[in-house]
Amino acid sequence: MEHILEVNELGKTFPIRNFFGRTKGGVSAVDRVSFKLGERGTLGIVGESGCGKSTLARLLMRLIEPDQGEVKYREQNILDLKGLSLKNMRQRIQMVFQNPYSSINPQMPVIDNIAFPLWASGESKAASRAKAHHFMESVGLSRTHAGRLPASLSGGQRQRVAIARALILAPDIVIADEAVSALDKSVQAQVLNLFQDLKQDLSLSMIFISHDLHVVEYMSDEVMVMYLGRVVEKGPTSQIFGRAAHPYTQALLASAPSLETAFEHHKGNGEPVLKGELPSPLNPPSGCRFRTRCPLATDRCAVETPVLQEVSPGHEAACLLLQESMPA
Ligand SMILES: Nc1ncnc2c1ncn2[C@@H]1O[C@H](COP(=O)(O)OP(=O)(O)O)[C@@H](O)[C@H]1O
Ligand code: SF4
Ligand SMILES: [Mg+2]
Repeated sequence: MEHILEVNELGKTFPIRNFFGRTKGGVSAVDRVSFKLGERGTLGIVGESGCGKSTLARLLMRLIEPDQGEVKYREQNILDLKGLSLKNMRQRIQMVFQNPYSSINPQMPVIDNIAFPLWASGESKAASRAKAHHFMESVGLSRTHAGRLPASLSGGQRQRVAIARALILAPDIVIADEAVSALDKSVQAQVLNLFQDLKQDLSLSMIFISHDLHVVEYMSDEVMVMYLGRVVEKGPTSQIFGRAAHPYTQALLASAPSLETAFEHHKGNGEPVLKGELPSPLNPPSGCRFRTRCPLATDRCAVETPVLQEVSPGHEAACLLLQESMPA
């Protein structure tokens, strides 16, 4: 498969400053993350809150600057771009967030909210509005919504406005960051189907970030599992859901469909599936970051850092137990 995006060793640590502005450590939010996004493919990213999913998305768009690594969009490292070429590249990648108000303006009628990015990029108002009408239809909003303010819409309708706005510049890649998480289950299903249809019709590639395993399984061809800033497992969706190799992924799948409840959910004997809190990324555990909650951890896990190893074609996991069973 051709790749539209190739990410190598991308890393970001947020400095933490004391009262006097001196750096007193850092939050390792994204640690040497590498992956490829297939042309017209969908990559799902899962992990508990705080594991670095949104930071990764913002790094890909260069909304924040990485400390290291590269992001190649069709062979061009976007970290080298400046000025107009950076602006042009940013239009190729668009984001849809959990809260539609982070991209839409509550004071603008629906039609202008959708038309705005096009108008701001130099199109005439009339042409921008005409195209916005077309996208309103594509996302299932009726013409009667055009003059209304976002506050008078339902949550699902507002998310459709945010989606139409993200699409009007004809991006190649859409990053949906918890884009359906705030919606009711039935509305969620409609919006997921909308994403599927749009992806097909507009030849989009997608990165689909969610803490809901069912949503990710439904949407993605490939899945990447993150824990405290690191990728612990990635591979084809069927492999991740059918033959998870990492103890973290296995625990998630065994416990609950949603990561929000995964750690409260109890096994038949009253034991939680995964013990303990997510450690602070300010001071992550040495060696394998998952070791403080891993039921299989040994002393070795505190001193050696597991690296991703192929467990079957295209399927990789980072656990020392797997490395042991690998031929030298
Ligand atoms: N601007 C920032 N400054 C300092 N720490 C940050 C900043 N943005 C995110 N973080 C920290 O980075 C970690 C990853 O956050 P985030 O990417 O939002 O995770 P997720 O989207 O998976 O919930 C968290 O510990 C968060 O507190
Ligand atoms: S390396 Fe050790 S702590 Fe980490 S997942 Fe494997 S067994 Fe568990
Ligand atoms: Mg997030």
